[in-house]
Amino acid sequence: MKTGTRVITAMNRKGGCGKTTLIRGLASAAVATGNKVTIFDTDGSESLSAWKQRSQEAGDWNEMVNLITTLDAKKVERGVEAIFAQPQEDHLILIDTFGGGAAPKAQDLIADLSHLIIVPMMLSEDDLAETLATGQWYINLRKRVDNPENIAPFFVLGSRIPAQISVFEREILQEAMSKLPVLDEFVQYRNAYLRMGNGVLGDVISNMRNRANAEHIKDALDEMTELLRRFDEIIKENE
Ligand SMILES: Nc1ncnc2c1ncn2[C@@H]1O[C@H](COP(=O)(O)OP(=O)(O)OP(=O)(O)O)[C@@H](O)[C@H]1O
Ligand SMILES: [Mg+2]
Repeated sequence: MKTGTRVITAMNRKGGCGKTTLIRGLASAAVATGNKVTIFDTDGSESLSAWKQRSQEAGDWNEMVNLITTLDAKKVERGVEAIFAQPQEDHLILIDTFGGGAAPKAQDLIADLSHLIIVPMMLSEDDLAETLATGQWYINLRKRVDNPENIAPFFVLGSRIPAQISVFEREILQEAMSKLPVLDEFVQYRNAYLRMGNGVLGDVISNMRNRANAEHIKDALDEMTELLRRFDEIIKENE
């Protein structure tokens, strides 16, 4: 599929909800299909820089991924504009964000640059509360602007979902669904995502000797490839 250049942002006021895991997974999926990837890490913890360094040391980094670390939303804006000024090619731009509450202006600006806003949510009460607060920010943003139809679509994405979910976890999901758009797709709990510490998934697989382990990583890469395909579909539908 021709995907062009698009911007997908992972956002949630809740820390530790799976934003960076999603960003790494989507980056892995995109390079596996020949896209260039630029990740803007505005999260401040520099977890992606550490990831890049570990990956390079392990020989599992992919040069198709460009990582830009900055806390300045204006810099992200200029960076995104510079990419759009380049000749058209399949290029996935990913923005990993800070917990939003602290910098509402920056959050608005990032939303403005995005084609799709994904809000990962794990099945905990804290995640639900912060996800609803993030949803409220989005609803208010649409009310504040002149052309709300220009604001990127917003979807909650279940994150680190176990194979069996408890009654309590189901209630959390249902509560989120009653208030916000929640995707049918979700990110499963997988040890492979913990291993991603070692690098871009496709490169981890090629460098692995143990076939059984490689299969698990491949399942994770397939999950992220399917998610990216779904996200691109949503972006296309919204054009
Ligand atoms: N699908 C998953 N399966 C297993 N573990 C996961 C999954 N998603 C996230 N985790 C783990 O949960 C923790 C938090 O995830 P992650 O760092 O992606 O969240 P975050 O939203 O980026 O956090 P922060 O707000 O601190 O930047 C990490 O230890 C990560 O490895
Ligand atoms: Mg993070």
